[in-house]
Amino acid sequence: MKFSIITLFPNLIKSYISESIIKRAVDKNSIEVEVIDLRNHTTLKHNQVDDYQFGGGKGMVLMAEPVVNAIESCKTKNSLVVLTSPQGKTWNQSSAREYASSNEHIILICGHYEGFDERILDYVDLEISIGDYVLTGGEIASIAILDSITRLLDGVIAKDSHLNDSFENNLLDHPVYTKPIEFRGKIVPEVLTSGHHANIEKYRQEGRLKNTFNKRPDLLEKSKLSNTDLEFIEKLKKVKGDN
Ligand code: ADE
Repeated sequence: MKFSIITLFPNLIKSYISESIIKRAVDKNSIEVEVIDLRNHTTLKHNQVDDYQFGGGKGMVLMAEPVVNAIESCKTKNSLVVLTSPQGKTWNQSSAREYASSNEHIILICGHYEGFDERILDYVDLEISIGDYVLTGGEIASIAILDSITRLLDGVIAKDSHLNDSFENNLLDHPVYTKPIEFRGKIVPEVLTSGHHANIEKYRQEGRLKNTFNKRPDLLEKSKLSNTDLEFIEKLKKVKGDN
């Protein structure tokens, strides 16, 4: 899968993709990342890419021409053009799954400053937001989108590790522990060191349900729960009611 990232801050993106799991994905050719410097696509003096907004108002607005030139420099018939913006559809794990399985080339445009000339939208397939807050620019959003898609691609991380990710089946992941067995008086739950696989799986499923019930109860309505899961949730409700 290929990503082309159009940005005013190419070094920010290059720095992220040169470390850790994303670097490994690049090295293994699971992904290709092309970083496009928006300033190389303006025809104006001093590499200008923004200007004041018509009608008055504070802040600089990204101009249409450099952004559209940059899109056209990398777009093919298989490209999906995405603009990162707080006005977009909110990104989540199921979007990451959908995009991981259905796109060959994603062009990510990092918005900046006070916004962008509205005419850019004519060249964009969709706007994506990573949450209801405003960032100074779209670089973090583009990296979040790239990262969450890449880790789902075949061969990037062990298959089993994302089958139980938080948000699979709309449940949060179960608690995990590592060495030492005792830390400041707190002991790792015994079942995890018992070697009894069925009991460990039961403990983990209950951990997912408990975490979701306590931290994100809104997700439970969307998850597919077995009768055993539902009975366990009923117990959690009762315990909460009793306290
Ligand atoms: N640019 C600024 N804020 C953003 C957000 N929340 N999501 C995506 N892009 C943004």
